[in-house]
Amino acid sequence: MIAPLFDRARAPKHPELVVFRGVRAVDPAAGLDALIDVIVERGLIARVGAGAATQEELTSERVLVVDALGRWLLPAFVDLHAHFREPGQEYKEDIGSGLAAAAAGGFAHVCCMPNTKPINDTRAITEMMVARAASVGGTRLHPIAAITKGQRGEELTEMADLREAGAVGVSDDGVCVMSSVVMRRALEYARTFDMPVIQHCEDHGLTAGAQMHEGAVATRLGLRGWPRVAEDAIVARDLLLAEATGARYHVAHVSTEGSVRLIREAKSRGIRVTAEVTPHHLMLTDEAIVGYRTFCKVNPPLREARDIEALRAALADGTIDAIATDHAPHSPLEKDCEMQEASPGMVGLELVVPVLLELVHAGVLPLARFVDALTRAPSKIVGLEAPSLVVGARAELTLVDPDLEHVVSAASLRSKSKNSPFLDRTYRGRVELTMLGEQFAFLGGEHR
Ligand code: DOR
Repeated sequence: MIAPLFDRARAPKHPELVVFRGVRAVDPAAGLDALIDVIVERGLIARVGAGAATQEELTSERVLVVDALGRWLLPAFVDLHAHFREPGQEYKEDIGSGLAAAAAGGFAHVCCMPNTKPINDTRAITEMMVARAASVGGTRLHPIAAITKGQRGEELTEMADLREAGAVGVSDDGVCVMSSVVMRRALEYARTFDMPVIQHCEDHGLTAGAQMHEGAVATRLGLRGWPRVAEDAIVARDLLLAEATGARYHVAHVSTEGSVRLIREAKSRGIRVTAEVTPHHLMLTDEAIVGYRTFCKVNPPLREARDIEALRAALADGTIDAIATDHAPHSPLEKDCEMQEASPGMVGLELVVPVLLELVHAGVLPLARFVDALTRAPSKIVGLEAPSLVVGARAELTLVDPDLEHVVSAASLRSKSKNSPFLDRTYRGRVELTMLGEQFAFLGGEHR
């Protein structure tokens, strides 16, 4: 029997205060990890501290008391990398369903990649996405616009315009900017606004026809492989370009031990590089694809144990700054088919907490780093104010029950798409609610 957080039937509709009582509040950016009360008033954090809620408040009918003993209250999360398919492929995901999935996953902010149809390479599309998201409410959407027109790798987009319209970074994610000349110009142009250039690192010549990681498993399955060096070679070139231009360079979905080594070395020399890693690259090897499981086809591909080890160590020590979902919804049309025909990617927004708490529980990833990699670190990369638990901050809060055992099923997902190899397993820990401003954007299985 799961103890309810509060009695919904008797809860005030418009409470004067919301009190999270006896939570473990964790906000590493504020040096906070303590058992306290956190009090929210009109969408702002009003007070925090042991016994901060008075007896009068705890018994008032105008106060909503969330009895959260044993739960973790965290700053709500920021995702640097999601694919909502609006405009163009709303049957996979639209901005409404994507934002609902984000709220259920504990996210306050989501950055959306430009490989929509048409591609987000103009002010009009960036503005449309921002306006649509504002009309939905809840989790906030921040577009990442294309580096090149049509993501063709040739002509730069009007980055100044895109930035003014709300873009927080540029990327051709899904494809790599192969030309060194174009990449150099992109870095120089973006540097003038201090915008990050986010690269999908893949030498397409080295990955032509590839379905999965190149190695023994690919050989056994008779599938063409994607060698590590196709990622490493682009990371190495781009780091040289970032050094030469002084621009801010961000590596999307790092998957190899070689990339980790290069990024670590570049950081030690003061190059302005940041990086993200996905939950699936931290948890699954290429063995997961055995049985021709198209849900495990993803770009970059799932690698080997030694890559996972390097990625985990780099996330723990901060070489990899952020956790990003690479939420990539696809319908059965794109997944229930031959491997060669299948689209790469998996949904991820609603699985971060259940999947990655395994690393936290096992002591592989310190809780403070887990929280930092989902809050302060990604916010800094795209220039957003980080969600935080300090007094005066906007209430952007995620309540996690770290010990609740539960099964994540396709039916439980808010996302329109269900393409994940992580479904139908038992997990320890889940998001209980997401509070954004004055609203519960997600509440124990309900949306808004
Ligand atoms: O697996 C992936 N899916 N990797 C990408 O880079 C693109 C994404 C998508 O858009 O489906």
